[in-house]
Amino acid sequence: MLSISVNKYLPTSPRLVTSLPGPRARDIIERDRAVTSPSYTRDYPLVAARGEGCMVEDVDGNVFLDMTAGIAVTATGHAHPEVVQAIQTQAAKLLHMSGTDFYYQPMVELAEKLAARAPFPPVAGTFPARVFFTNSGAESNEGAIKLARYYTRRSLIVAFLGAFHGRTYGAMSLTGSKAVQRAGFGPLVPGITHITYGTHASLDYLEKHLFTATLPPQEVAAIVVEPIQGEGGYIVPEDGFLERIRQICDRHGILMVVDEVQSGMGRTGRLFAIEHWNVMPDIITTAKGIASGLPLGAILSRPQIMTWSPGSHATTFGGNPVACAASIATLHLLENGLMANASRMGEQLQAGLTQLHHSFPTISLPRGKGLMVAVDLLDDEGNPDPKLRDRVIQEAFLRGLLLLGCGKAAIRFCPPLVIDSNQIQIALSILKEIFLN
Ligand SMILES: Cc1ncc(COP(=O)(O)O)c(C=O)c1O
Repeated sequence: MLSISVNKYLPTSPRLVTSLPGPRARDIIERDRAVTSPSYTRDYPLVAARGEGCMVEDVDGNVFLDMTAGIAVTATGHAHPEVVQAIQTQAAKLLHMSGTDFYYQPMVELAEKLAARAPFPPVAGTFPARVFFTNSGAESNEGAIKLARYYTRRSLIVAFLGAFHGRTYGAMSLTGSKAVQRAGFGPLVPGITHITYGTHASLDYLEKHLFTATLPPQEVAAIVVEPIQGEGGYIVPEDGFLERIRQICDRHGILMVVDEVQSGMGRTGRLFAIEHWNVMPDIITTAKGIASGLPLGAILSRPQIMTWSPGSHATTFGGNPVACAASIATLHLLENGLMANASRMGEQLQAGLTQLHHSFPTISLPRGKGLMVAVDLLDDEGNPDPKLRDRVIQEAFLRGLLLLGCGKAAIRFCPPLVIDSNQIQIALSILKEIFLN
């Protein structure tokens, strides 16, 4: 049964009551500018005060339709009452104890639920996965490459151009997205080779050239891949690409690590995006949507791989009991309607974007799965037009629609999975209005 949050406080469509940014927002932005790190990238001046379902209210009382979910995080919508209830109940009982040194029930319960749902081969008499909890996507990927090296006793890793895996040293070294994310930070973690994402030509290059010339496959610990490339542009790989990575891994004893930080937790209509393909990875990393907004991540591994010894990897906060409680409630909602809603709403969104493409050729055909959808913005010659993309995002904000870019010139649509048909229609109408003007 679909359990979509009913808006109690906020309207279900945009409501603008001041010019943007309003006076309170301007004040906070000014204070922020003086004191926070200049490395943050804010595309437009949204100062959020309250969120409910798919709507976000700013400090001046303007209400926006959120097609960003706080970078694909608030899977169950902003402040879903069941998630809030779970957080409040747990917060009043136990805020922290550190799962590294002690036991507590919510961490075990969540590990059982995730392990039972991991798309790994069944293991007789036990769960098909073991789980290590983290605080973020970067930390999950950091741990995953440590685990891969530890288990295989190999050092080399293959990753992909356009990939985004996070900002800590290992995750940043895996990332192949934007030069600005690396410039000035070297030296990075050695032993990581990037190849083009999503094509058979790229895997041909890996097998025919790299494996024979520079990258002995028997020294490769892992191939780390996003099943749908996220920050790189919401790119769905060619048919057979992920299956072929699995075969290459099997042939050479390499671990297949799938980064589901953005694509996982129901966003594509399946709990993990890799379930759209007939592929079972060895390790999955997740975070973002896993706890509807509380900081939590997880590394899921086939049990025979997660054999690192006590003390070899740990964390103080990872698997925090409040975050675990939020995640248990999130999983319940995802599996009882929201993943199905993501599939249905994603189809409606893609159909609407396809229509827009036919009316406005500067919008590409849409791509993606479920509510992980993007279009490119194109110039008159059909080339990606980042300036046009940025302008559309600004215009959308001024009309009460929150969007994010990705890739070179793409707009991504990654709303909370509680979005309804009417709200999809509103988003499409706002886009249409922008292109008509
Ligand atoms: C696929 C992927 N992996 C990892 C990360 C890093 O996650 P975090 O920002 O939680 O460290 C992101 C963040 O956008 C991501 O999209």
